Amino acid sequence: MCGIVGYIGSKFVDSLLIAGLERLEYRGYDSAGIATLNKGKLKIKKQAGKIQLLKQILKEEPLGGELGIGHTRWATHGEPTNKNAHPHTDCYNDLAIVHNGIIENYEELREKLIQEGHTLSTDTDTEIIAHLVEKYLKNDLLSAVQKTLKLLRGSYALAIISRKDPDKIIISRWESPLIIGVGKGENFLASDVPAILNLTSKMIFLEDGQVGLITKNQIKIYDRQGSPIKEIVRQLKWEVLRGPKKDGYRHFMLKEIHEQPAIIRDVLQRRVSRNRQEIYFENINISDKKLAKIDRIIIQACGTSWHAGLVGKYLFENYLRVHTEVDISSEFRYRNPVAGGDTLVMAISQSGETADTLAGIRLAKSKFLQVLSLCNSIESTIARESEGVIYVYAGPEIGVASTKAYTAELLALFLLTINWGVLRKSLSLEKAREMIEELEKIPSYMNELLDNQKSIYECADQYYQTQNFLFLGRSFNYPTALEGALKLKEISYIHAEGYAAGEMKHGPLALVDEKMPVVCIALKDSVYNKMVSNIQEVKARKGKVIAVATQGDEEIKKYADHCLFIPPIREEFSPILAALPLQLLAYHIAIKRGCHVDQPRNLAKSVTVE
Ligand code: AGP
Repeated sequence: MCGIVGYIGSKFVDSLLIAGLERLEYRGYDSAGIATLNKGKLKIKKQAGKIQLLKQILKEEPLGGELGIGHTRWATHGEPTNKNAHPHTDCYNDLAIVHNGIIENYEELREKLIQEGHTLSTDTDTEIIAHLVEKYLKNDLLSAVQKTLKLLRGSYALAIISRKDPDKIIISRWESPLIIGVGKGENFLASDVPAILNLTSKMIFLEDGQVGLITKNQIKIYDRQGSPIKEIVRQLKWEVLRGPKKDGYRHFMLKEIHEQPAIIRDVLQRRVSRNRQEIYFENINISDKKLAKIDRIIIQACGTSWHAGLVGKYLFENYLRVHTEVDISSEFRYRNPVAGGDTLVMAISQSGETADTLAGIRLAKSKFLQVLSLCNSIESTIARESEGVIYVYAGPEIGVASTKAYTAELLALFLLTINWGVLRKSLSLEKAREMIEELEKIPSYMNELLDNQKSIYECADQYYQTQNFLFLGRSFNYPTALEGALKLKEISYIHAEGYAAGEMKHGPLALVDEKMPVVCIALKDSVYNKMVSNIQEVKARKGKVIAVATQGDEEIKKYADHCLFIPPIREEFSPILAALPLQLLAYHIAIKRGCHVDQPRNLAKSVTVE
């Protein structure tokens, strides 16, 4: 999951490339580099480490020029070193390439190139593309790239420049996103909209297999067979992003946790009519008649979005009485689901670029199943390739650990459930209105929790040096246990496992001793007594219990060592509140451990490779 940028125009290219890379840093941040063409010379500077380091080096020794490409890396092949950083070049340093994706047949291509006398100097898969283009390049970069692409298997979004055929950038994509920003006398490239939205709101979303030839005044697009095609320029309505800012918060993750109440309130205002009779979804593109006939829902997603999908299962089965299964996308994409015309496949993805989830909707479409996606990133590949899309409107989420997108996904699922329940007559209008009124209390409940973090600080203080955590939940909050464990492990590097509490006796209880903190979601709901029994099991083995509990519950204090109280809320909506103290617990523990909260090691925000 890397980020690539490109520019061709009349401005000083170094700073434009660096600014674009800074906006893409959440896609990968273990090394970065740029290449420019300046007075006929190809210049390259690349550096392991954060983009800031490269920026400092370029300040002292700028490359210059008005045409260039850049890359920020999440290492797939080859360690994050200067040598393995992009851009990569050919034997003669005539051309430079940046690439996001994985070339699955690179070993065989590499062997052949070495036999043909090429000298390859890195451990990356990308470098072989540069040498293949060199092999085919006489003086037409476009045809050399087209010949090269026919040999590649795997995924790529790539940009190439050459001093032998200057004044243009050749680009192509296959299963990795690539966008052209259309300017006046200049053009831009990026993996993602936010990288260039401050420069233009006119975008061309390259499709799989297409090749682009970009000059400062021209954009030509070709299909896989090399025939020219008419590009579709989309005018994005996004307010111009001034670029993600922390707005005084120490980390993007903390800012995004605190944005949640406002997002919930804004989305409710956007989607629910004032009289609470109507819920609007602008891009579902599936008729009410078809929605009413759906007899099976398959939700497929990854990570936190998969956890949201698990909550969706309980909701849809409870209120729509529709058989709902949830699958991890990397498994779903290799299944051969038994599904018919009345099956709906729902993808959930914050980035809308997750390779496995994208592959999942392509599998669904190959079986003529209806696809509806929940996405946060507008105009993302998953959004564009789905029949219908529901944007969760959480705004750009920069922290790698997903927080506001998760609760926004849950809200979208709550509203969908109510809307479809009424449509399918499995939910009365009266009940629907009651549920909406309860949703409207969530922002103030969240603010209350954000204003009272004392007990969370105490837990972070006491347990930040722990090596292992268990998170237990049942029913609607089994996904909450999984989500709490994922938040903690991905930003604090503590081994944390989420488990269905009823599974304790089937193995995990063996892990419990006085060194094991166990987070139990034990709200005053239909499984409360069962959760109290689990807590007593843990206490009997000297385990430490942190209970996420309901305000006013005095009984739980008798059993738990710590209580993180949340306001009482309808059971099926409780995951959206119970997530908040767990996000904060993970955040404060990670801070105390000195971890890089926004850019945790080994991870990236958008997993655009398999
Ligand atoms: C969540 O905190 C992680 N960053 C990760 O599990 C993420 O949810 C997963 O990669 C799915 O991403 P998506 O929602 O953009 O598809």
